[in-house]
Amino acid sequence: MAKIVVITSGKGGVGKTTTSASFAAGLALRGYKTVVIDFDVGLRNLDLIMGCENRIVYDFVDVITGNARLSQALVKDKQLENLYILPASQTRDKDALTDEGVSEVMAELSKQFDYIICDSPAGIERGAQLAMYHADEAIIVTNPEISSVRDSDRIIGILQSQTKKSRREPRDCSRAFDYHSL
Ligand SMILES: Nc1ncnc2c1ncn2[C@@H]1O[C@H](COP(=O)(O)OP(=O)(O)OP(=O)(O)O)[C@@H](O)[C@H]1O
Ligand SMILES: [Mg+2]
Repeated sequence: MAKIVVITSGKGGVGKTTTSASFAAGLALRGYKTVVIDFDVGLRNLDLIMGCENRIVYDFVDVITGNARLSQALVKDKQLENLYILPASQTRDKDALTDEGVSEVMAELSKQFDYIICDSPAGIERGAQLAMYHADEAIIVTNPEISSVRDSDRIIGILQSQTKKSRREPRDCSRAFDYHSL
């Protein structure tokens, strides 16, 4: 069973994708078989940061729609033996990722990998919710701007109430910290 980690923030452009790539590479270097999934449907970037943009044939949505098998969509990193990427689709259809489809892909990847890293899109909409839903752990990326800190605070609340794990193990969803004191 893989450990699933979401890299999220609420705020856009704070370093989620860069962190996803470097964290996944670090795990792979330590010998863990790791896959990093780009949940940013329509605005994929992870492939660029990981330098595999020219090797994408199929993507996450192709797997969910049955257009490709998971093994066809996974792109193996050229430098690290244990590192794979599941690229996002460039479709404009934001509903292309279905709940059932994502669950099936997660279950399948869980059998094959030690770590699944989910690179979340910005915001708190459907894409971000799908990216965090299956996560066992979350890394929240932020910067010192107060708007970024407040968005992170909001994300903590959502993580504590709307993930599969939080529904199994409900916890106190009160505010994690007072950002005005920063
Ligand atoms: N630790 C860092 N220090 C300085 N700059 C960084 C750091 N991490 C990322 N960046 C830069 O910040 C910019 C945005 O990074 P990135 O694409 O990873 O953010 P993101 O949160 O994934 O954005 P989006 O919300 O659009 O998906 C890039 O130019 C990247 O090089
Ligand atoms: Mg990103």
